[in-house]
Amino acid sequence: MVKAVTKAVLPVAGLGTRFLPATKVLPKEMLPVVDKPLIQYAVEEALEAGVEDIIMVTAPGKGALEDHFGRAVELESFLEARGKTEALASIRDNFPKPAHISFTRQDDPQGLGHAVWCARKLVGDEPFAVLLPDDLMQATPGCLTQMVAAYEKTGGHIVAAEEVPEAHTSRYGILDVAEDDGSLVRARGLVEKPAPKDAPSRLAIIGRYILQPSVFEHLDKKMTGAGGEIQLTDAIAATLDDVPFHGLRINGRRFDCGTKLGFVEANVAFAAARDDLGGDIHEILAAY
Ligand code: UTP
Repeated sequence: MVKAVTKAVLPVAGLGTRFLPATKVLPKEMLPVVDKPLIQYAVEEALEAGVEDIIMVTAPGKGALEDHFGRAVELESFLEARGKTEALASIRDNFPKPAHISFTRQDDPQGLGHAVWCARKLVGDEPFAVLLPDDLMQATPGCLTQMVAAYEKTGGHIVAAEEVPEAHTSRYGILDVAEDDGSLVRARGLVEKPAPKDAPSRLAIIGRYILQPSVFEHLDKKMTGAGGEIQLTDAIAATLDDVPFHGLRINGRRFDCGTKLGFVEANVAFAAARDDLGGDIHEILAAY
């Protein structure tokens, strides 16, 4: 039996330069899709999958993320007194239990691998999930829940994967596929941001991982890779002699909310899927 995944690392220390000027003061992860910040979707997805402890890797200027997950006592009393139960639930329910959220810092954005390394003491010697909040998933059951179900059979490292156009391989970590049953893929390796001609497949890693703690041994070496950054995928690749590695095609949709188009599309898709907004959204869109 594999050891359960009870901890999730959410790296949120990036600068969000593709979203300036919105992200000059506001952390990218606080951008709302309809009425909920990106970070909250990721936390809810983790909790749904059975995660108990949320570990955020933040950076200077990202205090709003910490405040969002703290109690807002005055606001709660105000809503309670006014009988605004729905609004009250929206700031109380689906949040991590007290003392089950921790914050650590990455003072210098040296890459995703480095951000995850910053959480090593809080993770300890056990498997853990990594969720990148700017990859927003619309999936039932949630993306991480689907991955945990697969992980219970495969163990090892497992990543969420999605077919991307050939021209886009240089934006992603790409899987070197050994076996593929159409949903679960056994991978013999991976390449970070290959040019289309060098890509071993078109199956890209998207922002969800379940990893074994052995990745920290490689991350400890602080070796830089593609783009001069410390890459998480390089650390995964370094462990593959000892750890099985799978990709899972997710039943659902992914929105790359780190880009303007992906973010706008996510707002439309999430609003369209809601009972209270869906009809109006279709009407509004028909006007364009
Ligand atoms: P991105 O590649 O989207 O980088 O990071 P970014 O800085 O957030 O945005 P741009 O490219 O400047 O617009 C993917 C994820 O990894 C985190 C980011 O916060 C985001 O969740 N990250 C990236 C870190 O936490 N630290 C880093 O050094 C790099």
